[in-house]
Amino acid sequence: MLNGEKMLFSGMQATNVLTIGNYLGALRNFVKLADEYNCLFCVVDEHSITVRQDPAVLRKQARDLLTLYIAAGLDPEKNIIYYQSHVPAHAELAWILNCFTYMGELQRMTQFKDKSAKHADNINAGLFTYPVLMAADILLYQADVVPVGQDQMQHLEITRDIALRFNNIYGDVFTIPEAYIGKVGAKIQSLQDPSKKMSKSDENPNASVYMTDDRDTIIRKFRRAVTDSEACVRYSDDQPGIKNLITIYSCVSGKSPEEIEREFEGKGYGDFKSAVGEAVADTLAPIQLRQKELLADKAYVDGIIKTNAERAEYLALKTLRKVQKKIGFPERVR
Ligand code: TRP
Repeated sequence: MLNGEKMLFSGMQATNVLTIGNYLGALRNFVKLADEYNCLFCVVDEHSITVRQDPAVLRKQARDLLTLYIAAGLDPEKNIIYYQSHVPAHAELAWILNCFTYMGELQRMTQFKDKSAKHADNINAGLFTYPVLMAADILLYQADVVPVGQDQMQHLEITRDIALRFNNIYGDVFTIPEAYIGKVGAKIQSLQDPSKKMSKSDENPNASVYMTDDRDTIIRKFRRAVTDSEACVRYSDDQPGIKNLITIYSCVSGKSPEEIEREFEGKGYGDFKSAVGEAVADTLAPIQLRQKELLADKAYVDGIIKTNAERAEYLALKTLRKVQKKIGFPERVR
């Protein structure tokens, strides 16, 4: 941790394998943000159990995500990359913050409404208080900025409300976090329905390109991508499928949409789709290789997991102890 740099907190769920949408829209930008901020990248396994999980799968996916962070270029010595469940302060602060959050506020959360509809047989209390745990994640580290997508803005708002409410009663305990909204261009849509966001949980496997897909699979998925009958590679809202492919190609090649239009002028969609597939496969290859090496090096990764949990805990406890003292919990006898 460098003094004077601002704190950034980011949490990601390990459920389902990440897609190139998660990578190009979030993870890849984290590597740049890591130069500017003191960053924590948390695998939020406690959030994951608000819907039923297979224990073995959850464990594997959590390790996959943690190693993917590193493989994607995040240095685990500069950044803190860790599991939420390894730092008990998250759950402890969440309990306290539950007592400063109103039922009515939580009832308004659109994600709660969506998830309750989707998992009607398991509308558990954790699903309801999910945003409070998220507030605890962020506030524990006095985060200045939180990179979030549009879907998490409401949760960031409630985090700010809870923090302000607490500060109004007890003084300046929490930093009020701001959203860090990434630049445009990195919003990746489904390959099968370009009106929808590319999602980790899409039922159609051809809709999403996963970070773990091999070269042939990637190229095949791009070849099958839904386009149109214009037969012209143009960056236009009238051609959402092609526009999405241009965006992806632009992200992985660094070329601008105009350059790409010129490159494929007079060429068919087949050539274009293959070029995008190849370029994506080329981008993912070194990350996949590095992740494979990490997964094979158990001792090294275990060491990182241990050290980083300790580093996170050190920071978290500073805030938690302050909060406990403010609200009147008895002091610990040393
Ligand atoms: N709720 C977030 C999501 O599903 C994940 C998350 C948990 C998070 N805690 C966080 C994101 C704290 C940012 C900050 O995407």
